[in-house]
Amino acid sequence: MLSGKTVLIGITGGIAAYKICELIRMFKRANANVRVICTPNAMNFVTKLTLQNLSQNEVGIEEFEIPDFKPEHISYADEADIMIIAPATTNTISKMANGICDNLLTSIFCAFSKPVIIAPAMNCNMWNNKIIQENLQKLLNHGYTILEPENGFLACGYQGQGRLCALEKIFDAAVQKLSQPQTLKGKKIIITAGGTIEDIDPVRYISNYSSGKMGIALSDTAYSLGADVHLITTVSAQKPYVVEKVKSALEMQKAIEKDFADADCVIMAAAVADYRVKQPSEQKIKKTSDEEITLTLVKNPDILKHLCEIKTHQTIVGFCAESENLIENAKEKILKKGCDYLIANDISRKDIGFSSDYNEVSILTPNGVVKKLERADKYTIARQIFEEIYG
Ligand code: C5P
Repeated sequence: MLSGKTVLIGITGGIAAYKICELIRMFKRANANVRVICTPNAMNFVTKLTLQNLSQNEVGIEEFEIPDFKPEHISYADEADIMIIAPATTNTISKMANGICDNLLTSIFCAFSKPVIIAPAMNCNMWNNKIIQENLQKLLNHGYTILEPENGFLACGYQGQGRLCALEKIFDAAVQKLSQPQTLKGKKIIITAGGTIEDIDPVRYISNYSSGKMGIALSDTAYSLGADVHLITTVSAQKPYVVEKVKSALEMQKAIEKDFADADCVIMAAAVADYRVKQPSEQKIKKTSDEEITLTLVKNPDILKHLCEIKTHQTIVGFCAESENLIENAKEKILKKGCDYLIANDISRKDIGFSSDYNEVSILTPNGVVKKLERADKYTIARQIFEEIYG
C-alpha cells in the first residue's frame, strides 16, 4: 500500500513510546520505508536496537554525533513523505510551536515542509494546561494535524484525557494523507471569507453574522488538494498558505482584483455588505439631544458580478444566503450575477449556516440545481464543492 513512501517517525520521551514499536511494524507491513528519530529523553523508554531492528534503518538521536558532518535534519526532512510525532510530549509540542530546534527531532520538524501528524500523549492535567492548548492551537492554525489523546486510565495513575490515540488512527491518517489526490495542483484559487466591516466612525461599524468558517474550510481543503491558495478574509487566520486580511467591501475588491488576472478560480464565500456608509465620520459621532440620527448608505460594488463581467478564463463561484424560496431565488441570482456556480445556503435554519460548523447547500449552475449536498461539516461540504467543480 505504501511502497515507495518514506514515513519518518519521531518518538519523544513519554511512556507511550513503547507503543510506537508496533506502529513501526504496521508501516513496515504496508511496505513503507520507515526512518525513526528519537529525542534523547525517548531513549529512557525504548532502545535504539529495538527501533533499528523494527525499522531496518539507522535511528537518529543526537544532532552532532555524526562522524562525517552533513546537515542530517535537512536530509531526513527531504527524504520523507510524511512525518509522524508520536508520542508527542508537552515539552516537544511547546518547542515545535515556538520554532525551537534544540535536538535532531525538533530541527527536522522545523525543516519539514510536507504533512506532519502529531499524536500527543501526556498526563491529563498537562493536556488541560492552557499554555499547552494554546501551543496546540498554534500548530493547528499552521496546518499540522493533531490526533487528540483519548480518555482512559493513564500510566501515571490518573483517569482522564491523555492516552495516545489508537495506533490504527495514526496509521489511517498517514495513509489518507499519503494518498490524498492532488487534483488542484497548479491551480491558483482566490477564496474570500467573513463578513465585511463598513465603518460608521472610528469606533462603530456595520457588519453581519458571517463567521468565515465556510471560506476557511474551502481554503484549507483547496490547499490540501494541492492548490495555490490566496485567502482574502475579514477574520484572522494563520495558515500555511497566503492569507490577506481586509476589512471593507472596497478593500476586498481591491485585493481580489490585484491577483484576478492570474487566478484560475475565485470563490466568493464572503458575506459582502451591499451598502456602506456614504461618509464615515473621522471623529467619534457624539450623542446629542436628538432622538434620531440619519446614516446615509451608498451601494457597494457587486464584486462577484463585476468579476463575471471582466473574466477571461476564470471559474467563478458565488454563494447566496436566502431565508425563503431558496432555490427559486438562487436560480434568479446565478443568472443575474453571471457566475459559473452558485452555492445556495438556507439561512432560516439554526442547525446549519452562519456560525455553525455544519452546512447543507445546493450547487447550481446557470442550467439549474446540479447537486444538493446533505447536511455535513463544512470541510466535507468544501470537498464536495471542489469535486463538483474539478471532478
Ligand atoms: O447579491 P447577494 O449578496 O445575495 O450575493 C451573494 C454573493 O455575491 C456572494 O458570493 C458574495 O460574496 C457576493 N457579493 C459580492 N459583492 C457584493 C455583495 C455580494 O461579491 N456587494
